[in-house]
Amino acid sequence: MTMVVQDPAVWVERFRVDGFVRVGQVLDRDVTRRLKAGATRLISRFTDEGHTSTDYWNFDVDEQPPVLYRIHNLEKQDWPEAELLHRPELARLAAQFIGEPVVATAFALVLKEPRRAAGVPWHRDRPHLAPQTACNISICLDAAGPANGCLEGVPGSHLMPADLDVEAVRDAGPRVPVPSDEGDLVVHDVRLVHGSGPNPSDRWRRTIVIEFADPAIRLEA
Ligand code: NI
Repeated sequence: MTMVVQDPAVWVERFRVDGFVRVGQVLDRDVTRRLKAGATRLISRFTDEGHTSTDYWNFDVDEQPPVLYRIHNLEKQDWPEAELLHRPELARLAAQFIGEPVVATAFALVLKEPRRAAGVPWHRDRPHLAPQTACNISICLDAAGPANGCLEGVPGSHLMPADLDVEAVRDAGPRVPVPSDEGDLVVHDVRLVHGSGPNPSDRWRRTIVIEFADPAIRLEA
């Protein structure tokens, strides 16, 4: 299990060595609370009002309502809390890990509905970038652990070659779960080998994920 790291100097070291770190509560609690309320309303547009769009990623289940698992382009959805995604403390935090300057390059709400959510297959987000040039910051909107499908990663896998076999690295392990409390931030290198399990529990697991990168790099390379 990954414990909260309180000291920014240690954050950076853990990120450099492990490729991920749980930094705890960096955002003001009121900011997290407003983001969670906004995220809950966005989800209810799908579950209660039947809203669909190409940004609302979901899968079908036999004879049941579809399961929403991601709202892509979160910053472009029509919700008043979208401005909070641009809080300067998030960019400042990212800069501690990947250096100045940073730019936010992607925003998403990743969600695991109680009992019905599937796991996320193990993968790397951008294996062709150099280590410590881009990171994902997850704003955890719920307490999470292995029981409701929290993030899991293989420490040090962000330093492995771009063409590695993801399943082989996962199976060799160690697979380290990264639990979180509501409001915690978890940061990982986009090269990290990571995934997560399903959510058979009766508790939501929702995270807002923001990717930050050095603006000088080409993300599609
Ligand atoms: Ni990922």
